[in-house]
Amino acid sequence: MTRAAPTAPFPTLDDAQLAGKRVLVRVDLNVPMDASEVLDCTRIDRILPNLREIAAKGAKVIILSHLGRPKGPDLQLSLRPVVPELERRLGKPVAFSPDCIGDVAEKAVAAMRDGDYLLLENTRFHAGEEKNDEKFVAALAELGDVYVNDAFSTAHRAHGSTEGLARKLPSFAGRSMQVELEILTNLLADPAHPIMAIVGGAKVSTKLELLGNLMRRVDLLVIGGGMANTFLAAQGKAIGKSICEMEFANVARQIVAEAASAHCEVVLPVDVVVAPRPAADAAAHVVDVDHVAPDDMILDIGPKTVERIEALLAGTHTLVWNGPFGAFEVPPFDAGTTDVAMVAARLTEAGELESIAGGGETIAALNKAGVAKEFTYISTAGGAFLEWLEGKRLPGVEALRNGASKV
Ligand code: 3PG
Repeated sequence: MTRAAPTAPFPTLDDAQLAGKRVLVRVDLNVPMDASEVLDCTRIDRILPNLREIAAKGAKVIILSHLGRPKGPDLQLSLRPVVPELERRLGKPVAFSPDCIGDVAEKAVAAMRDGDYLLLENTRFHAGEEKNDEKFVAALAELGDVYVNDAFSTAHRAHGSTEGLARKLPSFAGRSMQVELEILTNLLADPAHPIMAIVGGAKVSTKLELLGNLMRRVDLLVIGGGMANTFLAAQGKAIGKSICEMEFANVARQIVAEAASAHCEVVLPVDVVVAPRPAADAAAHVVDVDHVAPDDMILDIGPKTVERIEALLAGTHTLVWNGPFGAFEVPPFDAGTTDVAMVAARLTEAGELESIAGGGETIAALNKAGVAKEFTYISTAGGAFLEWLEGKRLPGVEALRNGASKV
């Protein structure tokens, strides 16, 4: 896979003078929640060493993040419920400010002592965050002396707290950002061929650009999840009640045709698991892709497809994976993803495969399959991981270059 030139070296915590400073740390606490319960703590666990290191260096640790996509203040998307998880894991109290700028936030910061932690409310409660508005950025910058970006997974967003602040304050990459960049750069700088990309997930519309770019870089493009239905429908196959974006059928046909000229083999399901609805108690059965009934929903890949992917994986040297094959949250529709994940894990352990996976759903699926630790690398990023794979420059990373020169 040839990609855009890797990022230039960027300043890290090794270059920062932090003692006595107010440090604004952008992390990604966009974690799956059920009401006020955090369902998966992978992202929280990744940011802990960076937070601890900044506190241990005698700084005030002011934590910034978004959660979800609110259109203004929305208590359902408050970061307050994350506080107990942070406290439990850090073993320290974490104060909370119900606004990320203004008087409330300024008072909360003023009350901090060196080594303290403070979490600010969801940055996206202010429209200025996504607009990267100068006034909003200035109000955030008021709260800190130094900016540390430890959120690779939001680096594809040019928002106030991910990009604007880096232009305003002395800025540094946090430890998890540093590790993501170093590992992804190394692993994907000159990967061994054949390269397989597995791209799953519900919608082809969100991954069109990715598919277009990937086909020029990989040897095998395995399409799974709901988006495979659009490709099957584009070939004239009946897909029953399955999710599908028929308006993208032409694009799907074009992708397959262009992949052929780019010598990239597109792998689509040959058999599928269907059921009347995505429920554990629904009558699930396997059918050939030519025999999906009008009332069926395609909810996973079938055993023949799994076998085919496994055979191809055996001859593959590098795997990049984003998106599950089926409705993996609901058994038995997790079987295809689990089976392929186990084979990838085994080949990785045997030293025959470099396996790199990214994205919230993919991590959840690999955790569920119990194989996440066997993969060469798991990125916590979703959209940013995809854009990185496409070879795009990420605004949050670009803004960090030369960040320390403003000290
Ligand atoms: C993610 O979950 O991929 C990041 O937190 C970015 O979230 P966003 O897609 O809402 O910007």
